[in-house]
Amino acid sequence: MADVRFENVSKSYGSNAPTIRNLDLHVRDGEFMVLVGPSGCGKSTTLRMVAGLEDVTSGTLSIGGRVVNEVAPKDRDIAMVFQNYALYPHMNVRENMAFGLKLRKFDRTEIEQRVREAATLLEIGELLERKPRELSGGQRQRVALGRAIVRKPQVFLFDEPLSNLDAKLRVQMRTEIKKLHRQLGTTMIYVTHDQVEAMTMGDRITVMKDGDVHQIDTPVALYNQPADIFVAGFIGSPSMNFIPARVIDDGSILLIADKRPITVPEEHRAFLADYRGQEVTLGLRPEHVRSTPDSCEYPAHMAMQHEMSELLGNEMYLYLSTDNLHITGRSNVVRQIEMDTAVDMYFDMAHAHYFEGASGTGRTLHVH
Ligand SMILES: Nc1ncnc2c1ncn2[C@@H]1O[C@H](COP(=O)(O)OP(=O)(O)OP(=O)(O)O)[C@@H](O)[C@H]1O
Ligand SMILES: [Mg+2]
Repeated sequence: MADVRFENVSKSYGSNAPTIRNLDLHVRDGEFMVLVGPSGCGKSTTLRMVAGLEDVTSGTLSIGGRVVNEVAPKDRDIAMVFQNYALYPHMNVRENMAFGLKLRKFDRTEIEQRVREAATLLEIGELLERKPRELSGGQRQRVALGRAIVRKPQVFLFDEPLSNLDAKLRVQMRTEIKKLHRQLGTTMIYVTHDQVEAMTMGDRITVMKDGDVHQIDTPVALYNQPADIFVAGFIGSPSMNFIPARVIDDGSILLIADKRPITVPEEHRAFLADYRGQEVTLGLRPEHVRSTPDSCEYPAHMAMQHEMSELLGNEMYLYLSTDNLHITGRSNVVRQIEMDTAVDMYFDMAHAHYFEGASGTGRTLHVH
């Protein structure tokens, strides 16, 4: 068991601009930490530095209080699970799982016991004599997990371990990995570009983009209090709506699109007053764009055009427009609405987010 600490860590490949910039991240002992962000943001690089597969260019990386910048991968006491399982095709499941322990010269009975324990935990006890080609994708992934578990490492590292699986199996395996975490209690760092995976699995989530950390927080805090417009847009599906606006008067009114006024709730006025005359971005999650005012805490009426909708069974997504704005709404009242018709919608301004304006940093202006 160990924590993992990055202190002002940067990483450059050759003479290129840094891939990771001044990373400060403390993964607590026993924590399930997810690294999430778009392709190329540096998630794998970060994980590979922990594994020792990439050097740290500057800063300090420690595992369990020990600085590991110069420690060889094999001496770090970590185990990594990759996207492409990397099982040995000529070895059966038992041999695949035992291989790392054999290399490390564990004795036979210890190896046998650990393989049996891991196989029981992962419910692959029946498959021990099979070769990888005789297994389904999900079973192979379980063997890859088993190979990591038998090592009893201080830290598990996962790099998109589920992305080769079909959607249903992915959902099943993500619950299993969470369960495994609960049973083992070991520190886990899990990389994914899938925000749903991040939200459902992480104790905390680190949201990255272009080598920078945008926010480190619990799933609920990321959803309700995103630090900036990037996090707000990245977390949540369908994405938050972003609406350009200008603050007027004493901060009680926002002008959006072609000068439509929206009155904002009392509690938002004081801080919006500081942005009087300025551009801001109004952020509204689809569930706060509603078709009736009664379900809103602070409704702002919007006459809109209903372009189309998608019925998902338990809920529907509404694609709406007004002037040059395109807005997504989400409703759990599922009904058929004609395409290209005028509809009355209501923004629930009690749940509005505000971000520094069009040319600003996108920083969140107010945290609920
Ligand atoms: N060995 C390397 N040499 C040079 N550049 C590299 C190397 N490995 C990665 N990079 C670059 O570093 C950046 C981050 O790559 P990384 O693999 O960490 O991204 P990622 O967040 O894991 O992306 P993905 O979701 O696509 O796996 C990318 O721009 C990538 O091209
Ligand atoms: Mg990657």
